[in-house]
Amino acid sequence: MNRASPDHDPNDQTSWWRHGVVYQVYPRSFADANGDGTGDVEGIRSRLPYLQQLGVDAIWVCPWYPSPLNDGGYDVADYRDIHPRFGTLADAEMLIADAHRLGIRVIIDLVPNHTSSEHPWFEAALAADPGSRERARYIFRSGKGLDGDLPPNNWTSVFGGSAWKRVADGEWYLHLFDHTQPDLNWENEEVRAEFDDIFRFWLARGVDGFRIDVSHGMVKDPAFPDVEITEELLESSQATDHPHWDRDGVHEINRRWRRVLDESGSDVMMVAEAWVNATNLPLYLRPDEYHQSFSFDFLVTPWGRDAAIAAIDRAIGAARAVGSTPTWTLSNHDVMRHTTRYGLLADTNWRTWPLTGPASALDPDLGLRRGRAASLLMMALPGSAYLYQGEELGLPEVWDLPPEVLDDPVWEDSHHEQKGRDGCRVPLPWSTDGPSFGFGDAEPWLPQPDSFGDLSVDAQTGVPGSTLEMYRTALAARALHMVGDESFEWLDLGDEVLAFRRGSGAICILNYGGATIDLPEGRVIVSSTDVGHGLPGDACAWVLPA
Ligand code: GLC
Repeated sequence: MNRASPDHDPNDQTSWWRHGVVYQVYPRSFADANGDGTGDVEGIRSRLPYLQQLGVDAIWVCPWYPSPLNDGGYDVADYRDIHPRFGTLADAEMLIADAHRLGIRVIIDLVPNHTSSEHPWFEAALAADPGSRERARYIFRSGKGLDGDLPPNNWTSVFGGSAWKRVADGEWYLHLFDHTQPDLNWENEEVRAEFDDIFRFWLARGVDGFRIDVSHGMVKDPAFPDVEITEELLESSQATDHPHWDRDGVHEINRRWRRVLDESGSDVMMVAEAWVNATNLPLYLRPDEYHQSFSFDFLVTPWGRDAAIAAIDRAIGAARAVGSTPTWTLSNHDVMRHTTRYGLLADTNWRTWPLTGPASALDPDLGLRRGRAASLLMMALPGSAYLYQGEELGLPEVWDLPPEVLDDPVWEDSHHEQKGRDGCRVPLPWSTDGPSFGFGDAEPWLPQPDSFGDLSVDAQTGVPGSTLEMYRTALAARALHMVGDESFEWLDLGDEVLAFRRGSGAICILNYGGATIDLPEGRVIVSSTDVGHGLPGDACAWVLPA
């Protein structure tokens, strides 16, 4: 394994992740090497040279474990193997080794809040009696009402409906997500010890980091009180003082995992998927907890200069307060792609799950213009940036997937009120034609729109001004001008302009106004549009002053 040396200091200020660019791979939809219509590990391996050329430092691979795939793999049946549809453990080891040879680190996704209902532990729990050791690994409770036929409390699943399901003998179990994703009981030492071991299993296989799913959800109020539906909660699922989100007890778990990582003696990291408010975020980033936690506050901020400045200040302040760096992301497998989000003409609250939004009026050209500008802004900020596969192609959300192909449990769990997250999970187009635009040899598991041919990697490679070439130029320039140090200074270039200078002297300017503005004297390193006559509205440029 060519990881960092064993005497590595885990809080070293030069650690790669402090400014790394991480590319998120959703395995089902990245590349299908075995021609079964679903992406796989070999597909990822075959495309590593593409990722190296793009200029990323690491990949984050979404869950690849054996799973019934009821929630795209976030329903894990075995944490120590690979889903046969994606490949084998040996394939995963080859992927890690090849990635390392190309200088790319590998982060994997761990799902500790819940298992699949097909995990042997849950099968054993169902077969065992109430009060048994098997049931104590999960959260089983008696119901309310005369016959216990009402759920133990009013908690709702993130995907819709009650968070409790009744089993044959009358007890209920908790599932904050789909009913096939029973929540583990993190008060149980057996559960904690099992995850220490899972971390070690993958560390021994050379992975460089872990993205921790729902890292703010493991600890529940032991009294299991009803959730009070407050204004704050309706406004944002990141509300404070909640009986199962962001409770103090999670920090003890974070510290335990951090010790396991630090004991490995290498430069491994973990990044939290914590949907918590900006005030509490720094708590996750303390030096003995997570290395990184996504700034979802930035992701959900609507288009606009002042809102963007405030969100950036909050994220930088939160990270710096505890000696960390911010972790930016604009898209992932759970949210509407940002090229579409920024083209929606109606105000949408992105602070409550699910983040897929209404199919309201949309201007796709505006969305792409703003999306590209936002991407350049993000890649110029201090800290690390996570890119979601396909954003480098400017892929839009796919709106019109027919109901019969929808796969996200949100569709059924919301009783067909929410289409769910499939629109950002459509397989990537690699070539301009073929049965799945080069994704593989078969029909892909979700249909791609015809427009994907012109957005494919082949169609954009070498084309000046294409989104792909913009990302390549930006990532190369970022390595030269944006990561030397973490310093950052706002510049005042007018009421409608967001501008800042980085330590190297490079300036990033985003024009939120309608009128074209002059750029400072100097060399334009990269821009989101043609800047021959100045910087138009909804565009961004990086300038190295003369
Ligand atoms: C996380 C994942 C999401 C999944 C959920 C339940 O939010 O990103 O895809 O559905 O957790 O595991």
